[in-house]
Amino acid sequence: MTTRSVPFFDYPRVYLDDREDILRIIDDVGHRGAFIMQQDLVEFEAALESYTGASHAVGVANATDGLELSWMAIGLGPGDEVICCSHTMLATASAIKTAGGVPVPVELGEDNLIDPDAVEDAIGPSTVGIMPTQVNGRTCKMDKIMSIAEKHKLCVVEDAAQALGSKYKGKHAGTFGDAAAISFFPAKVLGCLGDGGGVITNNSGLFDRIYQLHDHGRNVDGEVRSWGRNSRLDNLQAAILNYRLGEYDQVIERRRAIASMYQQLLGDMEELQLPPAPDADSDHFDVYQNYELQAKSRDRLKQHLAENGIGTLIQWGGKGVHQWESLGFSVRLPKVERFFERCIMLPMNMFISDQDIQFVTEKVKEFYRK
Ligand SMILES: Cc1ncc(COP(=O)(O)O)c(C=O)c1O
Repeated sequence: MTTRSVPFFDYPRVYLDDREDILRIIDDVGHRGAFIMQQDLVEFEAALESYTGASHAVGVANATDGLELSWMAIGLGPGDEVICCSHTMLATASAIKTAGGVPVPVELGEDNLIDPDAVEDAIGPSTVGIMPTQVNGRTCKMDKIMSIAEKHKLCVVEDAAQALGSKYKGKHAGTFGDAAAISFFPAKVLGCLGDGGGVITNNSGLFDRIYQLHDHGRNVDGEVRSWGRNSRLDNLQAAILNYRLGEYDQVIERRRAIASMYQQLLGDMEELQLPPAPDADSDHFDVYQNYELQAKSRDRLKQHLAENGIGTLIQWGGKGVHQWESLGFSVRLPKVERFFERCIMLPMNMFISDQDIQFVTEKVKEFYRK
């Protein structure tokens, strides 16, 4: 087999693969001087609503802000606890903190997403909400989480930063809870050329408050109704996202095809624990933001792949949220900690070819044959 280089993610190609169309969009937006809160943004918000089925969407500066604004709009107060996953980006927990609350990270379940039983066990007198993360583009078993929330009268904000287009039992990630945030960071399944995010909600009161918070307290008619700040999605980024949303289903299809290839080529290896294949069960429709598996001798496997020109990633600094002692966490969550000792992401993006996948899987197998 010939030697090749398979980067984990090739950032210049986010621009270069669509360069002509992007330059045309920049030229069009530039000529119109349409930089802030313009028609492209309005169209993108409408497209996001119709794509997800949510009643309302608002573009924000990034998903972290979207999560924070959602909790602020809900009215999180000092000492209010929100239960979140520990297998997530720190942004999930920091959004709770900066909105004024206390993040309470809990264990993951067998699906490596937040464990609904652990959520229920963590509920106490100060708990006001739950924030599940739809990690790697797979939606949690949201029926269980929503019934716990209803039973205990808790709010739910979904961290759907990685999950636009992912579904559980036919329903889109982000449409189960009170609100959800989606990220358009360049490496996301739907990415723009910088920071970007969106909030979706079916609650019109919450939408009004989030909308005001993200634009200096102004409502959709531009009237000041409350204190707010600036966390707007640039109109230029919205124009690029509009263009990319048009091809989004094909993007998801390709990512699912890559996941199927990995499954086919690595599925019989006992040293690996792969994520569920696209056709593993009919309840989940996963968009494979990442292809994260657990591997025996993970660090040596990573090194072997690097020596062969293959980029991999151990996500989030190799730690669960609760393992950042510098942030004051002292809880132990053995399942999360074990997961972070074994997890590794293989290349999963629109820039890799079938031959790249063959090469990557061959090198993985080679490592365990040695
Ligand atoms: C699970 C999760 N939550 C939140 C975020 C934050 O998104 P953003 O970078 O748009 O603020 C990310 C982004 O990587 C993420 O993966």
